[in-house]
Amino acid sequence: MEFDILTLFPGIFTGPLDESILKRARETGLVQIRVHNLRDFTHDKHRVVDDRPYGGGPGMLMKPEPIFEAVEKLQRPESCVVLMTPQGKPFTQAQAGLFAGKPHLIIICGHYEGVDERVREALVDEEISIGDYVLTNGALAAAVVVDAVTRLLPGAIGHEQSAADDSFATGMLEGPQYTRPPEFRGMKVPDVLLSGDHGAVEKWRVNEARERTRQRRPDLLEGKQT
Ligand code: ADE
Repeated sequence: MEFDILTLFPGIFTGPLDESILKRARETGLVQIRVHNLRDFTHDKHRVVDDRPYGGGPGMLMKPEPIFEAVEKLQRPESCVVLMTPQGKPFTQAQAGLFAGKPHLIIICGHYEGVDERVREALVDEEISIGDYVLTNGALAAAVVVDAVTRLLPGAIGHEQSAADDSFATGMLEGPQYTRPPEFRGMKVPDVLLSGDHGAVEKWRVNEARERTRQRRPDLLEGKQT
């Protein structure tokens, strides 16, 4: 899968893309992630990427020309163009799964007060928000999307099953998990997990997941038979 990211701050991606699973996915060729500086698509001496909004108002908008030039250079018929913005659709595990099925994502990171509306009208297929809060720009949000999508690609994480069992993939939060030692500072691992009874373990897990979800995220259980 290929990602092309358009940003004013390429440096923000250096850490997140160069560690752990994303690093390995890039090294093995599972993903190709290219980060482009939008200023490289300007043609004036000062490499201006923003301007004042028509009609007045605070802040600056991202100009359409560099974004159009970049997208039109990178776009292919199968590309999906995504704009990171707090006005977008909330990003979910289901959306990550849909993106993981696409061969090529072009991700535009917004900045300033937003982007010229013609970018949305003419270029963008999906507008995505990673949550109801406002970041200084869309680069961290784009890194979140790249991470959540890449780990779903076959071969990205050790066990395919662990992605299938994730919180949200099952529609519920994951329940508690334990590793050795069986007792630590007086806190014991529940007996059922040490019992070797796989049926009982599975039943306990489902029940714990349901209880945790009911307490923390009852919205996830709405419309679900529990
Ligand atoms: N840019 C600024 N805030 C954002 C958010 N919450 N999601 C996506 N892009 C953003």
